[in-house]
Amino acid sequence: MVKVLFSDIEIQEKVQELASQIKGHYGDEPLLLVGILKGSVVFLSDLLRAIPGDVEIDFMSVSSYGESTESSGVVRLLKDLDVAIEGRHVIIVEDIVDTGLTLKFLIQTLSQRNPRSIEICSLLDKKIRRTKDVEVAFKGFEIEDGFVVGYGIDCAQKYRNLPYIGVIEE
Ligand code: IMP
Ligand code: MG
Repeated sequence: MVKVLFSDIEIQEKVQELASQIKGHYGDEPLLLVGILKGSVVFLSDLLRAIPGDVEIDFMSVSSYGESTESSGVVRLLKDLDVAIEGRHVIIVEDIVDTGLTLKFLIQTLSQRNPRSIEICSLLDKKIRRTKDVEVAFKGFEIEDGFVVGYGIDCAQKYRNLPYIGVIEE
Protein backbone atom coordinates (compact mmCIF):
# COMPACT_ATOMS: atom_id res chain seq x y z
CA MET A 1 0.00 0.00 0.00
CA VAL A 2 1.18 3.49 -0.84
CA LYS A 3 -0.39 6.36 1.10
CA VAL A 4 -0.39 9.70 -0.72
CA LEU A 5 1.76 12.37 0.93
CA PHE A 6 1.86 14.97 -1.85
CA SER A 7 -0.49 14.94 -4.84
CA ASP A 8 0.69 15.74 -8.34
CA ILE A 9 -0.97 19.17 -8.05
CA GLU A 10 0.81 19.98 -4.78
CA ILE A 11 4.09 18.89 -6.33
CA GLN A 12 3.56 21.07 -9.42
CA GLU A 13 2.84 24.10 -7.22
CA LYS A 14 6.02 23.45 -5.24
CA VAL A 15 8.06 23.07 -8.43
CA GLN A 16 6.82 26.47 -9.67
CA GLU A 17 7.68 28.00 -6.28
CA LEU A 18 11.22 26.56 -6.38
CA ALA A 19 11.68 27.75 -9.98
CA SER A 20 10.68 31.31 -8.99
CA GLN A 21 13.09 31.23 -6.04
CA ILE A 22 15.87 30.08 -8.37
CA LYS A 23 15.03 32.70 -10.99
CA GLY A 24 14.89 35.37 -8.27
CA HIS A 25 18.29 34.34 -6.96
CA TYR A 26 20.22 34.03 -10.24
CA GLY A 27 18.33 36.48 -12.49
CA ASP A 28 19.52 36.12 -16.10
CA GLU A 29 22.76 34.28 -15.26
CA PRO A 30 23.19 30.99 -17.16
CA LEU A 31 22.55 27.92 -15.02
CA LEU A 32 23.60 24.29 -15.06
CA LEU A 33 21.20 21.89 -13.36
CA VAL A 34 22.92 18.67 -12.32
CA GLY A 35 20.40 15.88 -11.84
CA ILE A 36 21.39 12.98 -9.61
CA LEU A 37 20.31 9.76 -11.30
CA LYS A 38 17.88 8.21 -11.18
CA GLY A 39 15.57 9.54 -8.47
CA SER A 40 15.68 13.19 -9.56
CA VAL A 41 14.82 12.80 -13.25
CA VAL A 42 11.08 13.45 -12.97
CA PHE A 43 11.62 16.44 -10.68
CA LEU A 44 14.44 17.76 -12.88
CA SER A 45 12.34 17.55 -16.03
CA ASP A 46 9.55 19.60 -14.42
CA LEU A 47 11.93 22.08 -12.77
CA LEU A 48 13.84 22.60 -16.03
CA ARG A 49 10.66 23.61 -17.86
CA ALA A 50 9.66 25.99 -15.07
CA ILE A 51 12.88 28.07 -15.21
CA PRO A 52 12.97 30.49 -18.15
CA GLY A 53 16.22 31.64 -19.80
CA ASP A 54 19.60 30.02 -20.24
CA VAL A 55 19.46 26.64 -18.47
CA GLU A 56 21.48 23.54 -19.30
CA ILE A 57 21.35 20.09 -17.72
CA ASP A 58 23.76 17.28 -17.00
CA PHE A 59 23.65 14.16 -14.85
CA MET A 60 25.68 12.30 -12.28
CA SER A 61 25.08 8.93 -10.77
CA VAL A 62 26.19 7.85 -7.31
CA SER A 63 25.37 4.86 -5.20
CA SER A 64 25.02 4.56 -1.45
CA TYR A 65 21.96 2.35 -1.12
CA GLY A 66 22.22 -0.65 -3.43
CA GLU A 67 18.96 -2.55 -3.23
CA SER A 68 18.46 -1.85 0.46
CA THR A 69 16.45 0.91 2.08
CA GLU A 70 19.32 1.84 4.40
CA SER A 71 22.43 3.71 3.29
CA SER A 72 25.63 1.66 3.29
CA GLY A 73 27.52 4.78 4.40
CA VAL A 74 29.87 4.70 1.42
CA VAL A 75 29.22 6.87 -1.63
CA ARG A 76 30.54 5.65 -4.98
CA LEU A 77 30.65 7.76 -8.14
CA LEU A 78 29.08 5.68 -10.93
CA LYS A 79 28.77 8.35 -13.63
CA ASP A 80 30.49 11.71 -13.76
CA LEU A 81 29.38 14.88 -15.55
CA ASP A 82 29.90 15.18 -19.31
CA VAL A 83 30.70 18.89 -19.09
CA ALA A 84 33.21 21.09 -17.23
CA ILE A 85 31.73 23.32 -14.53
CA GLU A 86 34.55 25.80 -13.95
CA GLY A 87 33.16 29.32 -13.72
CA ARG A 88 29.53 28.18 -13.96
CA HIS A 89 26.55 28.46 -11.64
CA VAL A 90 25.73 24.87 -10.68
CA ILE A 91 22.60 23.63 -8.94
CA ILE A 92 22.58 20.01 -7.81
CA VAL A 93 19.03 18.69 -8.20
CA GLU A 94 18.14 15.87 -5.80
CA ASP A 95 14.98 14.00 -4.92
CA ILE A 96 15.64 13.57 -1.19
CA VAL A 97 18.23 14.68 1.36
CA ASP A 98 18.27 11.98 3.99
CA THR A 99 21.48 11.58 6.04
CA GLY A 100 23.17 14.14 3.79
CA LEU A 101 26.01 11.75 2.95
CA THR A 102 25.36 11.77 -0.81
CA LEU A 103 25.13 15.54 -1.08
CA LYS A 104 28.14 16.15 1.12
CA PHE A 105 30.15 13.90 -1.18
CA LEU A 106 28.80 15.66 -4.29
CA ILE A 107 29.43 19.16 -2.96
CA GLN A 108 32.99 18.21 -2.00
CA THR A 109 33.65 16.59 -5.37
CA LEU A 110 32.18 19.38 -7.49
CA SER A 111 33.57 22.28 -5.42
CA GLN A 112 37.09 21.17 -6.34
CA ARG A 113 36.32 21.97 -9.98
CA ASN A 114 35.97 25.70 -9.28
CA PRO A 115 32.36 26.39 -10.22
CA ARG A 116 31.30 30.04 -9.95
CA SER A 117 28.74 28.89 -7.38
CA ILE A 118 27.23 25.63 -6.22
CA GLU A 119 23.90 25.12 -4.46
CA ILE A 120 21.48 22.30 -3.74
CA CYS A 121 17.85 22.04 -4.77
CA SER A 122 16.05 19.09 -3.19
CA LEU A 123 12.37 18.31 -3.50
CA LEU A 124 12.22 16.49 -0.17
CA ASP A 125 14.12 16.92 3.09
CA LYS A 126 14.13 14.30 5.86
CA LYS A 127 15.71 16.70 8.30
CA ILE A 128 15.55 14.50 11.41
CA ARG A 129 17.70 11.89 9.66
CA ARG A 130 20.58 14.27 8.93
CA THR A 131 24.02 13.23 10.12
CA LYS A 132 26.12 15.34 7.72
CA ASP A 133 25.94 19.09 7.61
CA VAL A 134 24.66 20.18 4.19
CA GLU A 135 22.97 23.44 3.30
CA VAL A 136 19.94 23.09 1.02
CA ALA A 137 19.40 26.49 -0.61
CA PHE A 138 16.22 25.51 -2.49
CA LYS A 139 14.03 23.09 -0.57
CA GLY A 140 10.63 21.64 -1.43
CA PHE A 141 8.87 19.73 1.36
CA GLU A 142 10.17 18.70 4.77
CA ILE A 143 9.05 15.16 5.62
CA GLU A 144 9.23 12.85 8.61
CA ASP A 145 11.10 9.57 8.67
CA GLY A 146 9.52 6.81 6.56
CA PHE A 147 10.31 5.44 3.13
CA VAL A 148 8.75 7.47 0.31
CA VAL A 149 8.23 6.55 -3.34
CA GLY A 150 6.80 8.01 -6.55
CA TYR A 151 7.48 10.98 -8.84
CA GLY A 152 10.80 9.36 -9.82
CA ILE A 153 11.62 8.01 -6.38
CA ASP A 154 11.93 4.23 -6.10
CA CYS A 155 11.91 1.32 -3.75
CA ALA A 156 14.13 -1.37 -5.34
CA GLN A 157 13.54 0.34 -8.74
CA LYS A 158 9.72 0.18 -8.47
CA TYR A 159 7.11 2.96 -8.07
CA ARG A 160 9.04 5.67 -9.98
CA ASN A 161 6.07 6.05 -12.34
CA LEU A 162 3.58 7.15 -9.68
CA PRO A 163 2.53 10.76 -10.42
CA TYR A 164 2.32 11.54 -6.70
CA ILE A 165 4.66 11.03 -3.73
CA GLY A 166 3.59 8.50 -1.15
CA VAL A 167 4.81 6.52 1.80
CA ILE A 168 4.91 2.74 1.80
CA GLU A 169 2.72 1.18 4.46
CA GLU A 170 2.46 -2.48 5.40
P1 IMP B 1 21.55 10.33 1.90
O1 IMP B 1 22.91 10.18 1.31
O2 IMP B 1 21.38 9.51 3.14
O3 IMP B 1 21.16 11.77 2.12
O4 IMP B 1 20.55 9.67 0.90
C1 IMP B 1 20.06 10.34 -0.18
C2 IMP B 1 19.56 9.39 -1.23
O5 IMP B 1 18.97 8.23 -0.64
C3 IMP B 1 18.47 10.05 -2.05
O6 IMP B 1 19.01 10.60 -3.19
C4 IMP B 1 17.57 8.89 -2.39
O7 IMP B 1 17.98 8.33 -3.60
C5 IMP B 1 17.78 7.87 -1.30
N1 IMP B 1 16.66 7.90 -0.35
C6 IMP B 1 16.63 8.44 0.89
N2 IMP B 1 15.44 8.30 1.46
C7 IMP B 1 14.67 7.66 0.56
C8 IMP B 1 13.29 7.26 0.56
O8 IMP B 1 12.51 7.45 1.50
N3 IMP B 1 12.86 6.64 -0.59
C9 IMP B 1 13.67 6.41 -1.65
N4 IMP B 1 14.95 6.78 -1.69
C10 IMP B 1 15.44 7.40 -0.60
MG1 MG C 1 19.03 9.63 -5.10
